[in-house]
Amino acid sequence: METNSAMTGGDLAVRDTWGSKLAFILAAAGSAIGLGNIWGFPTVAGQNGGAAFLVVYLLAVAFIGAPVMLAELIIGRRTQRNPVGAFKALAPDSAWVVVGALGVLTGVVILSFYSVIAGWTLAYVWKAVTGTFVAGADTEAIFGHVAGDALPAIGWHLVFMVITVTVVIGGVRKGIERWTKVLMPALFIILLLLVARAVTLPGAGVGLDFYFKPDFSKLDVNVVLAAIGQAFFSLSLGMGAMITYGSYISRKDDLVSSAAWVTGFDTVIAIMAGLIIFPTLFSAGLEPGTGGPGMVFVVLTSLLSTIPPEPIGGVIFGTLFFLLLAIAALTSSMSLLEVASAWLIDERKVPRKKAAITIGALAFILGIPSALANGAVDWLSALPGVGLDFLSFLFTIFGQYALVVGALLISIFIAWVWGVRPAGEEVRANDGRFPLGRLWSFLIRYVAPLAIVAILVQLVAQLFGWSLFG
Ligand code: TRP
Repeated sequence: METNSAMTGGDLAVRDTWGSKLAFILAAAGSAIGLGNIWGFPTVAGQNGGAAFLVVYLLAVAFIGAPVMLAELIIGRRTQRNPVGAFKALAPDSAWVVVGALGVLTGVVILSFYSVIAGWTLAYVWKAVTGTFVAGADTEAIFGHVAGDALPAIGWHLVFMVITVTVVIGGVRKGIERWTKVLMPALFIILLLLVARAVTLPGAGVGLDFYFKPDFSKLDVNVVLAAIGQAFFSLSLGMGAMITYGSYISRKDDLVSSAAWVTGFDTVIAIMAGLIIFPTLFSAGLEPGTGGPGMVFVVLTSLLSTIPPEPIGGVIFGTLFFLLLAIAALTSSMSLLEVASAWLIDERKVPRKKAAITIGALAFILGIPSALANGAVDWLSALPGVGLDFLSFLFTIFGQYALVVGALLISIFIAWVWGVRPAGEEVRANDGRFPLGRLWSFLIRYVAPLAIVAILVQLVAQLFGWSLFG
């Protein structure tokens, strides 16, 4: 496929589309599947009670995530614009562009810390190749060096950002289509192998109980908010990434099944990541919910070092796994960078190359404090008065809250401002059908916004010490 007017902000008539429906599904799945699944999901699930979190997460994906995914794709394909341009087109001269602008800002901030974590995966590729993951390896010390020494942490963050910028300059879709076709099946297979290894470890059962036997007494408003936030993060929703990707979908393709496939793939991969992390974690005698952003890395390396034959198993599996993870992160970071770049290109008429470099440089600088927040600088590693490291703090504010608010506004916009009727017409543009159309209208008009508002109200109430819902 050519990278032409669409990527450089040409007029609507000549805007290019994905090569096929499959190409779109792969690209959107490439955006969705990434560190959010393999790093984010087990981290957040571990901090929020395991199985109870998983139940709420699946409900959030089905009843809130999936409808919002469809909503973003509809807005994107209808307007064929970046998020700011999309809101300008559908609601001219209104304050709704702010939602698009919030999305652009959120994308840059997420990219800043995303690249730091992706940098760790690159460092781990190197560690794996050089045979670090052998039985008895001090996995905590390995993470301590990768993330805690200022120079490598910033260095790998820079390397990853440069790669992301390079790919986005070349045209996101070309890069994405090429990578994801190989990546998705390969990642899936290696995850399957790791699941098989993890669940057969001695003591794995305790981890499976933690993951699958819900203890609903652990549920509270924070768990629900974390689950909704994690669903949006993992599905790349709430900031217009799927508006941007949807803007390249052809009117011949079916939006509903595309949204369903992407949501399904992403969820399966997240569930598998939990199946790897929790059995391993308990088998190694570690505690979930402690360890912060490094937990997944520490647990994964201790798993890799148990893979026979010694010591070459750890080398081969470790290299493959972290390489695939780094590429999965790349197809996600591309979508994060693409949103802000598309805005500069479309709305500010900046050439693609300059746009990508500018945003990438900004996100790199913004990411430096996150790179120093896992041991390199003390106060960044435990923010005074917050109790979190700087990276986790940004993840909470922008990776969860901002996406939840963004998704709420997107739902309200499509359901009550622009309207489910024109939205439905857009869905029917290919073959006149809208499977589950009524269900979608109901979810996007009532369920998604009310659930989010209820959670946010409860959260604010909690901040002030009131009790509303008992
Ligand atoms: N979904 C990706 C992941 O799980 C991260 C990501 C890419 C993202 N684009 C996004 C998150 C847009 C939120 C919004 O790793």
